[in-house]
Amino acid sequence: VPVIDLNLTINENPVKLQVEPTARLVDILRDELQLTGTKISCGIGRCGACSVMIDGQLVNACLTMAYQADQTSITTIEGVSRDQEIDPIQKAFLEEGGFQCGYCTPGMVMAVKVLLEEVPVPTEEDIKMALSGNLCRCTGYGGIIRAVQRMAA
Ligand code: FES
Ligand code: FES
Repeated sequence: VPVIDLNLTINENPVKLQVEPTARLVDILRDELQLTGTKISCGIGRCGACSVMIDGQLVNACLTMAYQADQTSITTIEGVSRDQEIDPIQKAFLEEGGFQCGYCTPGMVMAVKVLLEEVPVPTEEDIKMALSGNLCRCTGYGGIIRAVQRMAA
């Protein structure tokens, strides 16, 4: 099988990898790099569990081929908490009951990060729009929305 050389930055660390042309970014993150905070649920771009940032944009890592990430800078949920300190967004989720099983949470946090970078004080409508690609089976979204509002307050 032919392989493709990749040079990219993941969570501010330079990474060199060889990948097969058919490899998805989500599988490389989870299986090759053990960055298992990025989740797989639907696998077809519907749920947002696999959300990561590529060059500041929110993307579904299950829909992104690994080769497309060449020369980019990727942030995963592991790059959000630093030095054993959780990110303020993660803290707000904790304080507002923004998760139950937690499976959707890494993707939600990535989506909220991108939202708050673009719209520091979002309306409830902005929050719902920004999170419309991220599904949660547990919370009913109330705690998630409150968590984002707490960040913006
Ligand atoms: Fe990627 Fe659902 S696993 S969007
Ligand atoms: Fe369980 Fe969202 S907390 S899917």
